[in-house]
Order: sequence, then structure tokens, then C-alpha cells
Amino acid sequence: MSYADVYAGWKADPEGFWMKAAEEIDWVKKPSKALFDDNAPIYEWFSDGMVNACYNAVDRHVDNGRGEQTAIIYDSPITHSKREISYIELRNRVASLAGALRAKGVEKGDRVIIYMPMIPEALEAMLACARLGAVHSVVFGGFAANELAVRIDDAKPKCIIAASCGLEPGRVVHYKPLLDGAIELSEHKPDFTVIFQREQEVAQLEEGRDYNWHGFQYGVEPAECVPVEGNHPAYILYTSGTTGQPKGVVRPTAGHLVALNWSMKNLYNVDPGDVFWAASDVGWVVGHSYITYGPLVHGNTTIVFEGKPVGTPDAGTFWRVISEHNVKSFFTAPTAFRAVKREDPIGEFVGKYDLSCLNAVYLAGERADPDTITWAQDQLKVPVIDHWWQTETGWAIAANPLGIEELPVKLGSPSVPMPGYNVQILDEGGHPMAAGELGAIAIKLPLPPGTLQNLWNAEARYKKSYLEHFPGYYETGDAGYIDEDGYVYIMARTDDVINVAGHRLSTGGMEEVLAAHPDVAECAVIGVSDKLKGQMPMGFLCLNAGAGRDHGDVVKECVKMVRDQIGPVAAFKLATVVDRLPKTRSGKILRGTMVSIADGKDYKMPATIDDPVILDEITDALKAMGYPAAG
Ligand code: COA
Ligand code: AMP
Repeated sequence: MSYADVYAGWKADPEGFWMKAAEEIDWVKKPSKALFDDNAPIYEWFSDGMVNACYNAVDRHVDNGRGEQTAIIYDSPITHSKREISYIELRNRVASLAGALRAKGVEKGDRVIIYMPMIPEALEAMLACARLGAVHSVVFGGFAANELAVRIDDAKPKCIIAASCGLEPGRVVHYKPLLDGAIELSEHKPDFTVIFQREQEVAQLEEGRDYNWHGFQYGVEPAECVPVEGNHPAYILYTSGTTGQPKGVVRPTAGHLVALNWSMKNLYNVDPGDVFWAASDVGWVVGHSYITYGPLVHGNTTIVFEGKPVGTPDAGTFWRVISEHNVKSFFTAPTAFRAVKREDPIGEFVGKYDLSCLNAVYLAGERADPDTITWAQDQLKVPVIDHWWQTETGWAIAANPLGIEELPVKLGSPSVPMPGYNVQILDEGGHPMAAGELGAIAIKLPLPPGTLQNLWNAEARYKKSYLEHFPGYYETGDAGYIDEDGYVYIMARTDDVINVAGHRLSTGGMEEVLAAHPDVAECAVIGVSDKLKGQMPMGFLCLNAGAGRDHGDVVKECVKMVRDQIGPVAAFKLATVVDRLPKTRSGKILRGTMVSIADGKDYKMPATIDDPVILDEITDALKAMGYPAAG
């Protein structure tokens, strides 16, 4: 069947399409139907089915004779260690951890925050929660204590599972002190924590609150899988919105299993037993969907890679891992390839490894620039597939579905909508636009299984952020167009979200931090183009009259504040002091115009600008910082 047939088949009978896909999942009780629309525009899938995510990701493979197959390969060039965990071993480890959590009172529906680096125990912690029907919320290790505290207060976890430390090249990330700091900052206090002690840094445990990962499992009964309703939240994953308060994306259990399982074959073209590698982090949605759940539910071998594209030890690491572990499909972010290409433009390292196992490469998380795709195609001689999705959707909205049909690649486009997604380009008034015209990208409701069901404890925000602007549609927050062949092009965000090295960040959140500096009267943060990271945040600070401070000192303090309060991942290093910010007459800061100046792009003088001279001042300030950057 061609892609066109599959897509048309879904459109003609969405219910039948997803019920068929649901047959690949092991149910405790099969759902009576796919879509539940009584509460539209909030939709649910498979709500009256009963299912367990851990059973589908782990136990069923043991029950079906795959117990000896490797489930997880841990490869850490940072610690120089490698380890393989079979499905049977994974089942035993997860059942034991879940049993210990249960013995301490964790039950179905309780939240558990997981704050761990790229080690197999992070996946085991996620799966142990899923086994009990507890709702996990993984927090990325590059966030500071304050961000962790915000998530603790929102999710109100009964327990937090953390590692003693993470390892960045040349730097130990002190998870335990960060965790202690976060618990001190948060209003909600977890009943207890579980700490996985790593030998690189053993953490001090607080008697009565902190339990040792191994010790607290001693003598407990392993836990069986607890069946949950199809619409039961599998996890909450916080992502950046327009403010400093992150959005808690709620992923429903059954739709998640059905959609991810479907995508493994149809999109990523892997069969059970194949090795699939997503070089991301469990703290991001890619890690949830394609390091943990997708490959494991589908019976693949997944790789937990604790390293970087370059420097651990060199730009050949990706190729070594692919070759050594027989990776068939590889998923990474364009920024990672840009980092490799910068160090090894002619692909000397590529030539050192036998990559004949590799069938395709998938890129997502940010726009894949044509140069990077062409470079990867030339080096690897396999299809390099850009695909577009979001934390909210949990799996690809648009892609080139290699398992169905390899469509011609159009550089600059993540190809075509996947079944389940009716993608439309809308004008400000919500009217569909013609092929080739730029507008807001929206998806006709309902979204398919596996996408967000709501925001955690914030239904009004969910509706306001995604459903109200274009009634009947989900607003993606991306702008772009669809060409006459139906290929989607993602051009920009329509909100304050920027994308730094494939990490989604809120400029609004950074502004909130900067505004709290005692000498800052007003500020703006914009995303400027960056050759490696795609975008970098840049701050403009107006100081209080009479502050009398050295500008360099204030900038340094502001950079430190963002690092301390949001985290190193914000990569906030560029800031400058200006007298005034350009604004409209109604007082709106002209951030878009500032971005154009910084990127050296032509811009139209906004008709509503209050004082055009300020743009000259901004231009001078940018010049002093070396912007627009050469090349
Ligand atoms: N825990 C703690 N700190 C972390 C971290 C983690 N898990 N991940 C990143 N950081 C820190 C880095 O150490 C760095 O700190 P520094 O300012 O002290 O140097 C900072 O956050 C910024 O990190 P990053 O933006 O990743 O930049 P980098 O210079 O360390 O590396 C790349 C550049 C391109 C190699 C890297 O960004 C990369 O591999 N990107 C791929 C992104 C990706 O996989 N995204 C997932 C979406 S698919
Ligand atoms: P995240 O929620 O972190 O996955 O970020 C989602 C956002 O990243 C999207 O809304 C887009 O702005 C951007 N994005 C993700 N994948 C792509 C892609 N393939 N092309 C262009 N932008 C992308």
C-alpha cells in the first residue's frame, strides 16, 4: 500500500484505522471503541479499555519468547562502560523496583518525579511507575533546582527517584544537592526519595527521607502489572510555554502505546528484534517515546547513550555506536549533526566504521537545514528523514514513512502528514489558506491517539493555549505552509518559544528571571540564529535610573541568574545593556524586529512603532556584540 492509500484509508475510517492498530497491543480488557468524544473539544482514545504500559513494554516479550533478547544497551563513553540488559532481566529489575515503591505506599495515580541522567535505571524507574499505574514526570538533568521545584509543586509527587550525579564532559552534575535544594524551595514535599548511587559521586542520604535504590528493594515482593483505564495518564512531561510556568503535558496510556507501536514499523521501519537508537535524553519527549516506550513496546533493542556527538571522545562516536551495536534506525537532532560536521566536515570518522547495518537516519526537534541533511546523506548514503513533532503530540505529525513507502525527500520539509493528523494552514481569521501560502499551522480535531489529553491540573490553560484561537483545531504554535504536493514546511514559532540545540525554551521564562534582578527595570529576550545550536537566547537589559552599576557586572549577574534558576541548558550567555527597548505605541516590545536586525535580515519598519530611533540604538548594541554574525 502506498502512503496515499494509507492516509486516505485513515481519513475514510479513522475509528477502524486505530482499532486495527490497537490489535497490536496486549489488553487486559479490549476497548469497545477508539474515540471518546462526549467531552469535545477534549477527546480521549480507548478510554474503556484496560491495559498496562509496562506489561506491553517488558513482560509480554518475556511471555512471547523474547526474554533472552537484549532490551537495553547502555553505552557510556563518558564512564567508559557498556552493559546489556535482556528483557527477562529488565522485567525482574522493574518488578522489584515497583515492589519496593509499592511497599513505601506508591499506588496507581500517584505522581513520581524522576530526575536522572542517561543510565538504564532511568528507564527502569519510568517502567516501574508504569507497572503500578503511577504517573511519572521525568525532569531533564540540565535544569536547575528552581525548575525542579516548580515541577514538584505542580505535580505533587509522592516520591522522587534520582541519581546521585550526572556526568557532563569535564563536569559532574551534582544531582543530589540540586534535589535537596529543590525540595527545600518547593511547598509540596515528597514522602520520600530513592537515590541511585553512582560510583562517580556518592550522595549523602537523609535518614528517614532518602532511600538507597538497592537497599530499599531488599526483601520486597516484586510487583505485578496493575491494569489501568485507557485514558489513565501514563506520564506528565513539562515543556516550555510562553511564561516561566511550564506546561504539564498529560500523556494517556492506551493511545500512547497504540500510536508508538504503529510508528515503529510504519515510520521508522524496524521489526521486533532490530536495534533502534534515539540519541536524545529521557528528559525530553524524544526520550520518552523513542528511547523508552516505542522501541520496548515494539520488541526492539533500545540504546541508552551517555555521551555527546563530539568530544566523547571524538566526532566518530555516533558511527562507533551504530556499527558496534548494529543499529538499524538512528534518530538525532540536526544540531548534533552540525556539531559532528563542524569537527569532521569530510567524514574521516565515518570511513572508519562499517555502517552497513544502518538503514535510515531521522532528524527532529528543530528545523533540519538543507546543508545538514545533504551532508548526512553524502556521508552515510542512507535516507535522512526530517520529521516534525512536539512534546504535545508525542509522535510525528509529519514525516516520510519509510515503513510504508519512501517518498521523495524535499529539502526543507519534514514531508507529509501522518495518518491521524489533518494538517491545515490557517489565516488569522481561522480560514484555510491556499497551497504555498504562509500561515499558522493547525490540526483539525481530534488529534490522534498518543497525543496530549490535557495539561496537568490546568484544563483552562490547555483550552486557551491550544484550542480557543482556532475553534475545531489544535494550534501547534508553529507557522509554515503546505505545498501543492502536500509537503509541510515549518518556518517559525508564533509564540515566545525558541529552540536551542534542539531544546525547547521559553524567552518569557528567561525574561521573568532577568526582571527579578534589582537593577533591571525592563528586559527582552530574543532568539538569534546560531550556526551550531540553531538559535541562542540574547537578553537586552534596561537598568533602573540611577542604578550606577557597571554594565559588565550586571550582565554577568544576569547570566548567572538564568543559569542558577533555569539551568545550564538555557545556554543564556549573550546579554547587553541598552537605554530603551523598541516598542509599539501600545507598549508591545518589537521582539520580531530585533531578531531580524540581529540575524541581518531585511525588515519592514513596523507602522505602529513608537520611536524608530531606538532601532538604531539596538543595531549599535548588536554590532558591539558581533551581530549580525558573519556568514
Ligand atoms: N545535565 C546537566 N547539564 C546539561 C545536560 C544534562 N543532561 N545537558 C546539557 N547540559 C549543559 C551542558 O553541559 C552545557 O553546560 P555548559 O554551559 O556548562 O557548557 C549546557 O547545558 C548547554 O548544553 P548544550 O546546549 O547541549 O550544549 P553543548 O555545548 O554542551 O553541546 C551539542 C552542543 C550540539 C553537542 C549538544 O547540544 C547536543 O548534543 N545536542 C543534541 C540535542 C538533542 O539531542 N536534543 C534532543 C531533542 S531530539
Ligand atoms: P519539542 O516540544 O521540544 O519537541 O519542540 C517542538 C517544536 O520544535 C515544534 O513546535 C517546532 O517549533 C520545533 N520542531 C520540532 N521538529 C521540527 C522539525 N522537524 N522541523 C522544524 N521544526 C521542528
